[in-house]
Amino acid sequence: MSSNRLKEDLIESGKIGRRPPIRVEGRDDLDPKNGVTRPAGTEENKKIKDYAVRRMKEAGLKVQIDQVGNIFGRKEGYKTDKGVVMVGSHLDSVLNGGMFDGVLGVFGGLEVIRRMEDEGFENERPIEVVAFMGEEGSAFHVSLLGSLVLVGNLDLDKALSMKNDEGVTLKDALQVIGYRGDFQRDLDDVEYMVELHVEQGPVLDVEKTSIGIVENITGMTWLMGTIEGRENHAGTTPMRMRADALVGAADIVSFVNRCANEMVSEQNGTTVATVGKLNVFPNGVNIVPGRVEMGIDIRDVVEENMRNLTNEIIEAFRAVEDKYGVRTEAEVLFVHPPTRLSEEVVKTIEESTQELGVSAKRMNSGAGHDSQNMAKRVKTGMIFVPSVDGISHSPREWTNWDDIENGVKVLTQTLKKLSKT
Ligand code: HGY
Ligand code: MN
Ligand code: MN
Repeated sequence: MSSNRLKEDLIESGKIGRRPPIRVEGRDDLDPKNGVTRPAGTEENKKIKDYAVRRMKEAGLKVQIDQVGNIFGRKEGYKTDKGVVMVGSHLDSVLNGGMFDGVLGVFGGLEVIRRMEDEGFENERPIEVVAFMGEEGSAFHVSLLGSLVLVGNLDLDKALSMKNDEGVTLKDALQVIGYRGDFQRDLDDVEYMVELHVEQGPVLDVEKTSIGIVENITGMTWLMGTIEGRENHAGTTPMRMRADALVGAADIVSFVNRCANEMVSEQNGTTVATVGKLNVFPNGVNIVPGRVEMGIDIRDVVEENMRNLTNEIIEAFRAVEDKYGVRTEAEVLFVHPPTRLSEEVVKTIEESTQELGVSAKRMNSGAGHDSQNMAKRVKTGMIFVPSVDGISHSPREWTNWDDIENGVKVLTQTLKKLSKT
């Protein structure tokens, strides 16, 4: 059965980056401590890219790698003068993440092409399955990196010079894993992009709805903050003589949480903010912390709210300087603005759900996606399938196989329509 073919791809790819590489066929097989870790440029990232490239070639696609490691698998259409329909997502993961985030969109797109072949469907437009490089930002600290370069919003050389926590540049990391290509994919001949993705939130699961049709994708800003205090002996340094970097950081962590909650209650809004990364140096029990690095994720579908909260948090860094005698810096790593997706593609997805008789609702995405970059250049849409208990970016991420099958059916129907427009 073709859905077994896709299921097998997701089970096989779900072993990559998981230690031990257990085979997860059902939700009960998940180990809540053992997720997948495949940051861009790592050996595990290479393994899943290699797997995807092999499966694309087995499906008869022409595979090309661009200069920043994005992968394109192309199926020609019988009309050569019509724009491409792109379909895909990403293969890299967060640290200790789930097995469907991104991967479902790449192998789901590949499965659509295989089903078209099985049925002898003749697509007018060429179709390209794409796997974007470095969507998560879990290695090179800008998220949506590969699609950002592809749409022309980040200079290629600047991207290739970015360094991971080990000080390795993206250029060298791609070279080592064999994914520093020379293909130059401009988007002038691309008409549509569709991304199938797990919702990563609770809406569809709670409302028992099969398909989410994404209208807007949230804006996303990352701040990297550093607080410089003074390491000192935890026993001999009187409290009044300390410059404790971690106490300053603690003020900011609670400020971020309090401020986001206040914005939500005042405006009944969609603001979220998280301090997800905290490194303490030298991190010894008997040493007054001298330095703290913190990564802050700020989001809203209303750009003004996201900007205001970002500015308030930057102010909060300044406030702790006087209070604790520390020095601080707050650097904005990137700002991805909120993005409205193509009404034409939204409507096409909606028609497909009606024709297939699956329940669906229009909704926003609280997660960021490569589609928010692609939407700047081509008509773009997203299809969500339910995440059980709304969990994602966790080893416990799960989507039921019948929901995945519904998602691929709707994706297939949508691509058939778009490939004939
Ligand atoms: O962070 C996100 O929203 C996405 O999963 N990269
Ligand atoms: Mn993700
Ligand atoms: Mn994703």
